[in-house]
Amino acid sequence: MFAVCAVAIFCLVSVSHSIPLVCEKLVHPLKSLAPHHLEGRWALVAGSLNHAPSMDALRQRDSITMYFSNSSEPSTVSYTQINRFGNHCQHLHYNVSVDRSSFTFDVGNRFDLTGSFLYTSCPDCLVMRWVVKSSRRHSVDLYLLSRRREVESREMEEFRAQLKCYQLPVPVVADPTKELCPEHPQS
Ligand SMILES: *[C@@H]1O[C@H](CO)[C@@H](O)[C@H](O)[C@H]1NC(C)=O
Ligand SMILES: *[C@@H]1O[C@H](CO)[C@@H](O)[C@H](O)[C@H]1NC(C)=O
Repeated sequence: MFAVCAVAIFCLVSVSHSIPLVCEKLVHPLKSLAPHHLEGRWALVAGSLNHAPSMDALRQRDSITMYFSNSSEPSTVSYTQINRFGNHCQHLHYNVSVDRSSFTFDVGNRFDLTGSFLYTSCPDCLVMRWVVKSSRRHSVDLYLLSRRREVESREMEEFRAQLKCYQLPVPVVADPTKELCPEHPQS
């Protein structure tokens, strides 16, 4: 009798822990990120955030490209994000301070943008978590970036599971047939 109870209790405990255990790995910030891993061009594959107007804004973009590159300051990387709206490419530049796997965008006093890189099993992906605080927006955002335009379905499933851990809505998934913008504005 005791053995049965013990097993039943063990089973209950393991069931109730199974979801948090998955999340523990998926929400885990990376310990550190080699700068060379970050450098270069990334395509936004999918993203989600808990701020509906910003989620709508994300949906309006035909493609999003992100470039990280070294700057003269060792703990700073320069970040360029290029949003495509039809034939129009919008270039945004920021300096980002990186401390191991967490980062802070240098945007003056306009808003607060900090974040970290999270675990991913996808070898050529980055998962970025942003925490944005401004007078208009307070959000947690998760973005899946890749060197590819599209990822394997199991890689997307892992990202969707990450979103569930953060209780974020189903992601906006980029259309891989929409062209990425060039790194520099065309004159
Ligand atoms: C950036 O920095 C890393 C490490 O210091 C170096 O290996 C790499 O060549 C640098 N890249 C550029 C484009 O300067
Ligand atoms: C980034 O930092 C460099 C060096 O401090 C500065 O010259 C540049 O204007 C900064 N860029 C932005 C977009 O703030």
